[in-house]
Amino acid sequence: MAMKYLALLSLLLNLAVLFSIVPKTTSEGGGYGDDCGDQSGNDVSNLCSAAEAIIFSRVQEAVLDDSRMAASLLRLHFHDCFVNGCDASVLLDDSANFVGEKTAAPNLNSLRGFDVIDAIKSDLESVCPETVSCADILATAARDSVVLSGGPSWDVQMGRKDSFTASKSLANNNIPGPNSTVANLVSKFQNVNLSLRDMVVLSGAHTMGRARCTTFRGRLQGATTSNAPDASLEFVQSLQELCSGSDSNATLANLDLATPATFDNQYYVNLLSGQGLLPSDQNLVTGDDQTLELVETYAEDVVAFFEDFKNSMIKMGSLGVGTGMNGEIRRNCRAVN
Ligand code: HEM
Repeated sequence: MAMKYLALLSLLLNLAVLFSIVPKTTSEGGGYGDDCGDQSGNDVSNLCSAAEAIIFSRVQEAVLDDSRMAASLLRLHFHDCFVNGCDASVLLDDSANFVGEKTAAPNLNSLRGFDVIDAIKSDLESVCPETVSCADILATAARDSVVLSGGPSWDVQMGRKDSFTASKSLANNNIPGPNSTVANLVSKFQNVNLSLRDMVVLSGAHTMGRARCTTFRGRLQGATTSNAPDASLEFVQSLQELCSGSDSNATLANLDLATPATFDNQYYVNLLSGQGLLPSDQNLVTGDDQTLELVETYAEDVVAFFEDFKNSMIKMGSLGVGTGMNGEIRRNCRAVN
């Protein structure tokens, strides 16, 4: 018991230091909590003033330990929001009588960061029990991951609710696959009311993190026949070599070959020189004039990229929020209460 209090005290002391550097959420205007009516009708950031600092501290620790974790946490939020909105459905574990989203094709052997979310939740439950939802943790951890990797910051509105359920079939259907054409990508984003522009700018998240050979085999063909502007010969040959072993499906390559752990606009620069990793990434240059124009803009203008990225993240982070308010604040992100 004494150990538990000591640990809590040390956490609070760390937080006091952290408050000076954590991205700040403005309290004016309230969060989604205002509309949804949490227990006291207040904004969650008022109910648990330490929440953002706790999340930032844990994300920082995880990213210092493993720089790829920033990418993994950003992706978790995306895969959550595209399936019935940002409601932490992606975090629910399968059980004897429940099938969650973790075994859906885009997620299986691919999503990472669940332990980091568990650690954040456990800290938050010690300090402010049943106050900060797992969906809010995902949204805030995604923002902090971007900030810690050198990208823009934005205010994360709190007050999301956690779902009682999940949908493996919607995870399979709604989350775009790596061989998608531009038309496919646009339609998957339009399904959740996000535009072509949102799609191109959010794809810029592929400025960090890694992908398995199995997801970019479509890029390995044709290297010997031409060095067309849509495929850098040298790049494709290096990928062929990387993915040539018989059990190479899970072998990883950086999504951004130049600055894989930095949030910058290098992803778009890579696309213009034929060095996009996923077929769906490279298609933004070869498959459509509108997407090409946006890629050119963001490759030239990092300020425009950061500004549009943060706006689209706020849009994505509000998917499904405020519609119905059917949810809870889970005590453990892996299971309903
Ligand atoms: C536009 C359609 C998109 C497609 C087709 C796509 C597809 C993929 C695929 C196939 C991977 C590699 C997974 C693996 O090999 O395990 C990946 C990784 C990643 N995706 Fe996307 N994605 C898309 C959009 C997004 C968006 C909107 C975000 C976030 C805002 C995002 C963030 C990431 C990140 C950060 C990684 C690296 C994760 C890590 O290293 O753990 N993606 N994506």
